[in-house]
Amino acid sequence: MSETAKITIGSKTVEYPIIQGTEGEKAIDISKLRADTGCITLDNGLMNSGSCKSAITFLDGEKGILRYRGYSIDELAEKAIFREVAYLLIYGELPNKKQFKEFCDRVHKYSSLPEGVYKILDQYPLDAHPMAVASSVLAGLSAFYPQYLKNDLSKEEKDEVMAQIFAQFKLIISYYYRRTKGITERVPTRQDQTYAGDFINMMFHKPGFTIDPEISRALDILLILHADHEQNCSTSTVRVVGSSKANVFAAVSAGIDALWGQLHGGANQAVLEMLEEVRNDGGDVTKAIAKAKDKNSGFRLMGFGHRVYKNFDPRAKIIKVACDTVLGRLGVKDPLLDIAKGMEAAALKDPYFKERSLYPNVDFYSGIIYRALGIPTEMFTAMFALGRIPGWLAQWKEMTEDPMTKIVRPRQIYTGANQRPFIPMDKR
Ligand code: ACO
Repeated sequence: MSETAKITIGSKTVEYPIIQGTEGEKAIDISKLRADTGCITLDNGLMNSGSCKSAITFLDGEKGILRYRGYSIDELAEKAIFREVAYLLIYGELPNKKQFKEFCDRVHKYSSLPEGVYKILDQYPLDAHPMAVASSVLAGLSAFYPQYLKNDLSKEEKDEVMAQIFAQFKLIISYYYRRTKGITERVPTRQDQTYAGDFINMMFHKPGFTIDPEISRALDILLILHADHEQNCSTSTVRVVGSSKANVFAAVSAGIDALWGQLHGGANQAVLEMLEEVRNDGGDVTKAIAKAKDKNSGFRLMGFGHRVYKNFDPRAKIIKVACDTVLGRLGVKDPLLDIAKGMEAAALKDPYFKERSLYPNVDFYSGIIYRALGIPTEMFTAMFALGRIPGWLAQWKEMTEDPMTKIVRPRQIYTGANQRPFIPMDKR
């Protein structure tokens, strides 16, 4: 007999099935709890609540394991390219040559944006935050492709719209960047390049520009590392919005907004700003560490800690290596890297960080790589989004195909005033 959990509330005991995942993780299915007992569960930050079943990404925060569709992140970072990983996440298997060509051909069809979208992009202030641009333009794309606004898309329509978003997001943020440099020339897609190589070319192309294969490989790896991370804040947002059957542009745009926050993807921008602050303050990392430990300061060590990784973030280890490669290749000596390394070493020795299992996360070193590539700090979170697009699309697709999907509508424990009579204004 499968395992069950008994819950006793007052004199009533109810019994619920325990669901087990393929990696042995367990969940009590409490979907009948309110109907049976009148009680709901309260789980601040949803730290103990599973919101769905998913076959896309497995992570074990205690052991520092991250796998996409069963493949370890280390192996994918070493052997795969980002487009291949995008296919894997979305369709569940690594593509064979034919499948990969079909996928790439579909993606390459979208090597420009509708003319109206370029006009919209041209209207943003030059100092607009790229996440504001990315999110609004992505939502705005839905206005140009009304065929995808209907409720239930066919398999072909989903394939098409996912390839389109995957391709066009790169165009949006590279065009945004070039415009901030006063260049509105549109750089054509380089089909002979990896996704990262094509993106680097779109960003920095000028006469005589060549794409350094080592640099584009390092960026491709970075994108792979960011591609999915199960039910994190932005992915859950994509699923919440998608669960109402809002269109995929709206769902992904909402994910971009969720990613923007400092406690999530916005941390990579915050890390760089923090490192710059430390440098401007004389480079003493102990001050920043002390401030992070002081609960009254309101300051946290950006790029440290993770909701689920309580041992180490496997992505951070790979990124640290990529960081050394990129800086070595470009011959960049970045004092911020030395500060980052000093800060990491000091924090890892400090009982405060040890006791709370706070380790560098994916964002701690990624910003230094972006900076070395010449990508401005404000664009870092948009770079994270560039990598996360396939994950959001895969999760959206999985959700739309799951017969168990319901509109997400949590409950609450009301703590406001009890019923009281209305008092006219002149009597208040
Ligand atoms: N610096 C200092 N103290 C920290 C930090 C930090 N970066 N992170 C957590 N803590 C402390 C908390 O103050 C708390 O201490 P307490 O137990 O004495 O009250 C304890 O560690 C647990 O912290 P919580 O906030 O409860 O942990 P939670 O799982 O909710 O938060 C989070 C995880 C948001 C990532 C947090 O560690 C943080 O704010 N980190 C800095 C921002 C960051 O790097 N975000 C990127 C995350 S990765 C990503 O989204 C891609």
